[in-house]
Amino acid sequence: MASARFAPSGPLRGSLRPPADKSVSHRAALIAAMGEGETAIEGYLDAADTRSTLAAVEALGAEVEMCPTGSDDLAGRIRGVGLRGAGSAEIDVGNAGTLLRLLPGWLAGQEGGIWTLDGDDSIRQRPVDRVAAPLREMGANLSARDDRLPPLRVEGAPLRGTEYRLPVASAQVKSCLLFAGLLADAPTRIVEPLPTRDHSERMLRAAGATIEREGDTVIVQPAARLQPGGIVVPADISSAAFFIVAALLVDGSEVLLKDVGVNPTRTGILTILARMGAEIEIEGERERGGEPIADLRVRPAPLQATEVGGAEVPLSIDELPLVALAACFAEGTTVIRDAEELRRKESDRVATVSTALTALGGEVEPTADGMVITGTGGLRGGAVDSHGDHRIAMLGAVAGLASREGVEVAGMEAAAVSYPGFETDVASLLAGPA
Ligand code: S3P
Repeated sequence: MASARFAPSGPLRGSLRPPADKSVSHRAALIAAMGEGETAIEGYLDAADTRSTLAAVEALGAEVEMCPTGSDDLAGRIRGVGLRGAGSAEIDVGNAGTLLRLLPGWLAGQEGGIWTLDGDDSIRQRPVDRVAAPLREMGANLSARDDRLPPLRVEGAPLRGTEYRLPVASAQVKSCLLFAGLLADAPTRIVEPLPTRDHSERMLRAAGATIEREGDTVIVQPAARLQPGGIVVPADISSAAFFIVAALLVDGSEVLLKDVGVNPTRTGILTILARMGAEIEIEGERERGGEPIADLRVRPAPLQATEVGGAEVPLSIDELPLVALAACFAEGTTVIRDAEELRRKESDRVATVSTALTALGGEVEPTADGMVITGTGGLRGGAVDSHGDHRIAMLGAVAGLASREGVEVAGMEAAAVSYPGFETDVASLLAGPA
């Protein structure tokens, strides 16, 4: 296990393009594989999770020609197998929860095929009943360990269009059902308790699918074929968020993060930090590949405590660990609630975040569905363990830069799941503009 030390730093200065969006990259590979003919993909995330998705679609029969571009991403083309052409295979999803939840939706409706999805130790603790239950209502034939956990076995079967009310707000479950709905015999209606990221809807529509929204319901029509044509992936706001918070907390910083996806279903972190007192300038908002992008300029600011809950949670779910870190530096007591889903991520993030920040001198109380964080004017520093969770590794690193004594992160290699160049980018911002 690699450990890395992040010393209290001087300012972070300069600009960079954070890595490609992980959510959008997974969907790009899957939807290209479902398509007819070739799909050109630009700016695909070159990281462990999204390489698992490329390997998965290759195992299903898609032809994948994706090469490094020299700017930390992959570009090239995927020749799809068509909506009903995936060959039987055993799929290793690695650490990728998104692949684990989305792929069964596409496979479930393909009669004659049999697939197994399995992955690493962390993935074996991630629930799949949340996709198995609604897929079974559509007629799918699935089985899982203890009926709940991977390995997940899928046997293709005819699917019925249905209406399903999601018990928890989850873009992964919604996307799984959107894929299944393409192969069903009638329209599928998915009712969301709260809005979640809509990358699948955007990309499927661009590929010719009919997807409509009526209030809280997304409706997908059965499709004969998809033709994605070309897909461009924005930079990931969830990766950018580490440097947004670092630049907010380290005196004298000024960081420009370029081409960042600012889809309103992903920008909860910007709203929350603004409420805490951050001034993040959103420059040059434009559209690329059907997704809004912008450059984000961040400087330090004094922060106040806030409350996060309800509809804001799905819009910021992966960034809530960073909200907790920022709250350690803010004046007052911050409450994060309605975020029980945090406990089902790559680690139980209520537990791993509160343990890590407490070990560094923070005052963080875990609750059933979130955390209560009392600002103490900063963090002393110390040691944290990533628990194999990429976002906890990078949280520890940012905490170290902003701390008084520095932080040793055990298991720093986990960052490669979403951000292999993270330590290089930290070094480049510490070195300042060239
Ligand atoms: C994701 C959705 C979120 C998020 C995950 C990626 C996606 O999960 O936490 O990192 O790509 O759809 P849920 O939809 O399960 O909340």
